[in-house]
Amino acid sequence: MSASPDLTKEQAVAARIDDRLRQLQRLGSGDEERGADRPAFSAADEQAHALVAEWMAEAGLEVERDPAGNVWGRREGTEPSEPAVWTGSHLDAVPGGGRFDGVLGVVAAIEAVRSLSEAAQARRTICVVAFRDEEGWRFNHGYYGSRWVTGSLEAAVAGMRDAEGVSVADARAALGLVAHPPFVDRLRTSAFLELHIEQGPRLAQADRPVGVVTSIVGMVEAAVSFHGQAGHAGTTPMEARRDPMAALADFATGLFARARSLPDSVATLGTVRVLPGAANVIPASVTVSVDARAATAGALSELLAAIHEGASAAASRSGCTAEVRLDDSASPAQMDAAIMDALDAAIRTCEIEPLRLPSGAGHDAGILAAAGVPTGMLFVRSGAGGVSHTPRESTSREDIAIATTVLERALRLLAER
Ligand code: HGY
Ligand code: MN
Ligand code: MN
Repeated sequence: MSASPDLTKEQAVAARIDDRLRQLQRLGSGDEERGADRPAFSAADEQAHALVAEWMAEAGLEVERDPAGNVWGRREGTEPSEPAVWTGSHLDAVPGGGRFDGVLGVVAAIEAVRSLSEAAQARRTICVVAFRDEEGWRFNHGYYGSRWVTGSLEAAVAGMRDAEGVSVADARAALGLVAHPPFVDRLRTSAFLELHIEQGPRLAQADRPVGVVTSIVGMVEAAVSFHGQAGHAGTTPMEARRDPMAALADFATGLFARARSLPDSVATLGTVRVLPGAANVIPASVTVSVDARAATAGALSELLAAIHEGASAAASRSGCTAEVRLDDSASPAQMDAAIMDALDAAIRTCEIEPLRLPSGAGHDAGILAAAGVPTGMLFVRSGAGGVSHTPRESTSREDIAIATTVLERALRLLAER
């Protein structure tokens, strides 16, 4: 691939990557204003995987889809019987998401493997993978594709439903995918390396284009429901109410205080469903989503206890009852020391001083690491103050060029060892 006369090869590659990110963001009803519209197992999500399969083929990779619907681009090494090196991320997006989250890790990996192979075939086979439903927001359960690959996808996930009542099985069937894919043990990899935007401010504050991830946060996803007594908003005295919204407010205040008191811990209440849901009706019940995260297993179990204990205490203070449904959890994951060192070495070849940092976001890399795969992550600087999961997500083409070069060099080190 020749760079145009006024651009270096890396800059031309970064321009192509960025154009492809914009193309993917426009699928469904997405655009740069509104953000992405690619819910897992939607038609737009499927289009994204079809487009990426085309780009993989165009880059000279052998393309394959596995029973989960993950898309793989394979570049055989000189010793194909050796465990392969894997790299990749996810293509599904949160509602109104930016164009970089997940997608950059797939599209840049295609370019890194293209460029690496143009230089010289590697010893180990290298596979680029796009994992399905990493975000998990639609069906309250994430990491679908990476969990299938690691044999940790539970059959019950097929029955989980989105806010419209569509099940995972229905959504997959509409795309021609089986309800629950039979596990095929293909977990023969010597290393998994995921390139991903940082989704935070640390690299920008340190004036670094890239960083090496040390660990990935653990998380718990739950739904907490409070049941009380519906009634007239005007004629029901405050002292006579059993108001689930009062219980929710009490629960939220307590959980946020607990998260602030624990190191490297956060809690988010992202959705609330109110029934019957009218301004002049005291609710009968409210259901809130809880996303709780911590860097250590200890702090995560403290947060889990705060969810259970906080819900029942808040319910009884308001004369209500509480229900806690645990939808998903992922343990904190440590990145592999040798892969972190390989990333440091690759970064140094670009005359950049490496920086190591933890990830507050969850990633497929955490699932692979939890399954015992030697795993590493390369973060790319996030602009706009590190904002993510919004259309304002931003990463410069210069940083995309540097990160793609570092990824290529790190893959070379991992594929030759
Ligand atoms: O929510 C997360 O941390 C990731 O974007 N799935
Ligand atoms: Mn992501
Ligand atoms: Mn995300």
